[in-house]
Amino acid sequence: MADIVIEGVTKRFGLVEALQRVDLTVRDGQFTVLLGPSGCGKTTLLRMIAGLEMPTTGRVRIGGVDVTELPPARRDVGMVFQSYALYPHMTVRQNITLGLGLRGLPAKEITRRLEQAVDLVRIGPYLDRKPRALSGGQRQRVALARVIAREPGVALMDEPLSNIDAQLRSVMRAELLRIHRQVGMTTIYVTHDQEEAMSLGDRIVVMNFGKVEQTDTPDEVYSHPRNGFVASFVGSPRMNLLRLDLPPGADRIALDGITAPVPPGLGRLPETVLLGFRGEDIRPGEAAAGEAGVSAVIDVVQNLGAQTEVHLRVPDGQEIILRRPHDEGGWTEGARRALAIPAQHIHLFDAASGEAVGGGR
Ligand SMILES: Nc1ncnc2c1ncn2[C@@H]1O[C@H](COP(=O)(O)OP(=O)(O)O)[C@@H](O)[C@H]1O
Ligand SMILES: [Mg+2]
Repeated sequence: MADIVIEGVTKRFGLVEALQRVDLTVRDGQFTVLLGPSGCGKTTLLRMIAGLEMPTTGRVRIGGVDVTELPPARRDVGMVFQSYALYPHMTVRQNITLGLGLRGLPAKEITRRLEQAVDLVRIGPYLDRKPRALSGGQRQRVALARVIAREPGVALMDEPLSNIDAQLRSVMRAELLRIHRQVGMTTIYVTHDQEEAMSLGDRIVVMNFGKVEQTDTPDEVYSHPRNGFVASFVGSPRMNLLRLDLPPGADRIALDGITAPVPPGLGRLPETVLLGFRGEDIRPGEAAAGEAGVSAVIDVVQNLGAQTEVHLRVPDGQEIILRRPHDEGGWTEGARRALAIPAQHIHLFDAASGEAVGGGR
């Protein structure tokens, strides 16, 4: 069992606190994605699991064993780097099998693993080439084959597709999913690309400033973001967040052009809230009871082919962006529109703390 448990891990580089008390459990066989903006500590956390970085405080356990003090070679972990890290003077075959030979596996077993890995990533025709004679996508497949052939309990991948062009990236994503289903390695995959995270992860760990903001399935992260950061980071276009100043002690939201019900039993609202909703969740028209209602003037309408992107402004000037089906009428620049947001799609956050009001439900 190669489940991974991170307990209270902190990492300081001088004055920089790259990780601030991170707790995380990854179950055996899961595909977990670490998602967050550049500099939030994803690589540091991954390197700590690999043993390439020591935590300042906290423990790392793999398969029930405390590996915090163990060097990389004594952890059952394989890593794929963004830069591929292939040996340029060796052939593809040598790159894949070198580590197996060093670990003293019998020749027959090495051949079996080579053939299986090469089959999985489909690089059979290139075995005798050197990396420089391969495209970026092919090199990345070789790096992947090298990890698969090691048959580690845990595979760690740090933005492995970021040097590959956009079209091939979506092909490789599908390949990664197929390989994961076939091999079933516990996988931790780092990306700053929310679309990649949504499409790959069984679970997504959203990080910001060295902290874990939310760990959930892609659906939960998308539908029930726990705070304003997660709401604005996941989804394209991002969730609309309208900043609303309320009178002290308010128990309802009724402002110029904006009304919203609040979760029953909540009592007083924070003085500044963020009202969040996604463009695909609105219904054009007046709000019914229990729905939120927003009145806005259409600023710009862009034709994106299958969809129309509409930019609107509410009375105090804040912007709303909606993507709507291209055959939906009524999106005319300069017109005023009423938008209704059904109760289950209303998100409320405390603007001061960022936390979801009423637990994000
Ligand atoms: N070896 C190091 N020395 C000093 N600071 C570092 C080192 N490695 C990472 N950092 C800092 O730690 C923070 C997190 O970095 P990193 O884990 O690489 O983020 P990410 O992978 O999410 O982009 C950044 O502020 C980065 O500058
Ligand atoms: Mg990184």
